[in-house]
Amino acid sequence: MGHQTLVDAGKPGKPANTKKLFIKTYGCQMNVYDSERMADVLAPVGYSCVDSPDGADLVVLNTCHIREKAAEKVYSELGRMRKLKEKNGGTMKVIVAGCVAQAEGEEIMRRAPVVDLVLGPQSYHKLPEMIAKVSREFGERLETDFDTQEKFDLMPKARTVDGPAAFLTIQEGCDKFCTFCVVPYTRGAEFSRPVDQIVSEARALVSQGVREITLLGQNVNAYRGAAPKLDSEKHWGLGQLIRHLSKIGGLDRLRYTTSHPRDMDDELIAVHADEPTLMPYLHLPLQAGSDRILKAMNRGHTYAAFKDLVAKIRKAKPELALSSDFIVGFPGESELDFKRTLEAVEEIGFASSFSFKYSARPGTPGAALPGQVDEAVKSERLARLQDLLTRQQKAFNQSLVGKTLSVLVEGTGRGENELFGRAPYLQGTHFTGSADLIGQIVRVEITDAGQNSLRGVLANG
Ligand code: 5AD
Ligand code: SF4
Repeated sequence: MGHQTLVDAGKPGKPANTKKLFIKTYGCQMNVYDSERMADVLAPVGYSCVDSPDGADLVVLNTCHIREKAAEKVYSELGRMRKLKEKNGGTMKVIVAGCVAQAEGEEIMRRAPVVDLVLGPQSYHKLPEMIAKVSREFGERLETDFDTQEKFDLMPKARTVDGPAAFLTIQEGCDKFCTFCVVPYTRGAEFSRPVDQIVSEARALVSQGVREITLLGQNVNAYRGAAPKLDSEKHWGLGQLIRHLSKIGGLDRLRYTTSHPRDMDDELIAVHADEPTLMPYLHLPLQAGSDRILKAMNRGHTYAAFKDLVAKIRKAKPELALSSDFIVGFPGESELDFKRTLEAVEEIGFASSFSFKYSARPGTPGAALPGQVDEAVKSERLARLQDLLTRQQKAFNQSLVGKTLSVLVEGTGRGENELFGRAPYLQGTHFTGSADLIGQIVRVEITDAGQNSLRGVLANG
């Protein structure tokens, strides 16, 4: 998941005589997807998105609880919302949604009276009904049920599309219980959407011009969804689903995230080799290089097993690049343990990674472990790890110079005739070309590489 990004899902283009909705999204791509779906749920009852909370009728903060910092941001944002509400005569409604809502519903109501409604991630389909209740001032203000199936069944079928690349949630929740992680508590048990439901959502996206879909799930490769009727099997895994989606005409690129090493089965690996629609880029969190720490984290595999898995995947798809997540300063992590993480990164080589200081999350087993690591030590380790990861990322991008890559053109860039798109390895790619290429996949010869982006020229033919 691209966890540290802060994304505004607010979209301009509001018709007259509608209520103004501002959604602020924190955290991972699943929240980005959920925010888009909340906008879809609210559109039929008269809300359209604006890109500022000032003057909005309804503000939704779609929150993230994965680390302490992410959760604290919500409370400071609520302080700003309180001032805005006062300034605009007190009619603005404020909703806290997402994982902080699920984990700290009662506390939010206590700490931030500005909040009208607290809504967990499985209750978004109830938004119009809940807002109506709150407006009549006798309704329940906290809704944190866990019925994932109902949520997907009752969401509107139509989706508002914003560009040629889209997210599609296929799985939610997690049964792995890594000892550092709140997800099993905030998103609940694993739930996989039925294949037919996913296929019809994908088709609808494609009919609106989408060319690339990223399949989302907290533990996406544990996907086991009800197979289409008449199929000889009851359930399909992620590999089968991807093979099926690859047949949709006009859907040219597929990705999936976030996966767990233990759920990378042979079928899924074979699909990487067989299906050109599946992009040669895989996010596979390792978290730590020391077996002792992996065990304490309850990851369920050793470093050697991870290395073997990577070898198998690379054998199936040699041009595949990997990205990963790392945590430094998990309770009990010694300097030697940490060095194992550095060695693992050196040995495997990642194209891009997210790395974090361990953040003790209330209610998780990790928070109660002895040997909590000093903040200063965590900071120092994170700096060393990030230095190595940044060097690898730059070297990887540099290795693409001179190559011709397929780029999905997403929009215009800053300069005149400048276009912006995504390479197979997700780097933003800048080049010159005509705006009618937006939404198409073009070949770009890479001429320059920075830490996060590439520059190139349109290749002929
Ligand atoms: N502290 C620090 N990082 C965490 N992550 C999850 N929980 C924590 C935590 N308590 C990181 C992991 C995971 C990613 C989504 O966020 O690296 O893969
Ligand atoms: Fe959290 Fe582990 Fe589940 Fe990923 S696999 S969501 S890190 S518990």
